[in-house]
Amino acid sequence: TTAPAANAKANVVILATGGTIAGAGADASNSATYQAAKVPVDKLIAAVPSLGALANVRGEQVFQIASESFTNAQLVQLAKRVSALLKQDDVDGVVVTHGTDTLEETAFFLDLVVKSDKPIVVVGSMRPSTALSADGALNLADAVATAASPASRAKGVLVTMNDEIQAGRDVTKRVNIKPSAFVSQWGPLGMVVEGKTYWFRAPVKRHGTSSEFDIDTIDTLPDVAIVYGSGTMNPAAYTAAVQGGAKAIVHAGTGNGSVAGYLVDTLKDLRAKGTVIIRSSRVGDGFVLRNAEQPDDQYDWVVAHDLNPQKAKILAAVALTKTTDTKELQRIFWEY
Ligand code: DGL
Repeated sequence: TTAPAANAKANVVILATGGTIAGAGADASNSATYQAAKVPVDKLIAAVPSLGALANVRGEQVFQIASESFTNAQLVQLAKRVSALLKQDDVDGVVVTHGTDTLEETAFFLDLVVKSDKPIVVVGSMRPSTALSADGALNLADAVATAASPASRAKGVLVTMNDEIQAGRDVTKRVNIKPSAFVSQWGPLGMVVEGKTYWFRAPVKRHGTSSEFDIDTIDTLPDVAIVYGSGTMNPAAYTAAVQGGAKAIVHAGTGNGSVAGYLVDTLKDLRAKGTVIIRSSRVGDGFVLRNAEQPDDQYDWVVAHDLNPQKAKILAAVALTKTTDTKELQRIFWEY
């Protein structure tokens, strides 16, 4: 499929899922006290009249939930809808409005499984539209401008927050009540200013059409648990996760993704029974390598590289739809 002719306005579909961008507070003083997932997509669009100058826009209400409530089934349903829309010649890009709590997981999931070079932009807001200096309207306009721009093609899933364009793979919510909440340890890809995108970097990790994963062949995702590392841990947290159905456990370890000596036997036992063990780090900008402080080769563990625990959970769930081989899983964690 080709990009729209240079002077034609792009056709952008906004898929609304809820979150604060659809939130409402009691009055303008409420920037943190409000209810998420209230305002329907057509009202979101009507509240930003300038969208019509950026693209031909139409909306669909896929869900109306606070994003902490997203389930794997809803991730799959959303990705299938995005994939189907981008196959249509009359759709040039998709914007997904989303709560910010799990926006980073949804953005990475779509990055991995939607096989299209057309722009997919996930966007949220840190303040409800009813608040002073609400950020949702500009974030949404930036998202539509980015989804409408041919320069956004083949750059993976993008996230527009606070004037910046972030890679869906890298971006994470680092703060819970500031418009500057979303950061990437490798930096933003670009900026949107007055409806125009400015690019400075492009992703190098596999995504979209270069991904080996395809949402059209995925109907369910396996359960993956995260156990948060600290001092004085209880091994039962890991065995309970497996008893609850987890096929893999992401260990959000201290520092280098470290594992307390008294946990090793439990993890080795779970591994021996088929559970995949993935070491990530609880630190903000983790970077976990094999056999650094932990004998991953000896224990047959996988390392999450630069992916934080929640991103590692998404990649593990997608990878496990194809393989349980730990050498293949480690390749996947190096390549995506
Ligand atoms: N409940 C949170 C969510 O839906 C609100 C945070 C937000 O959307 O900014 O993710």
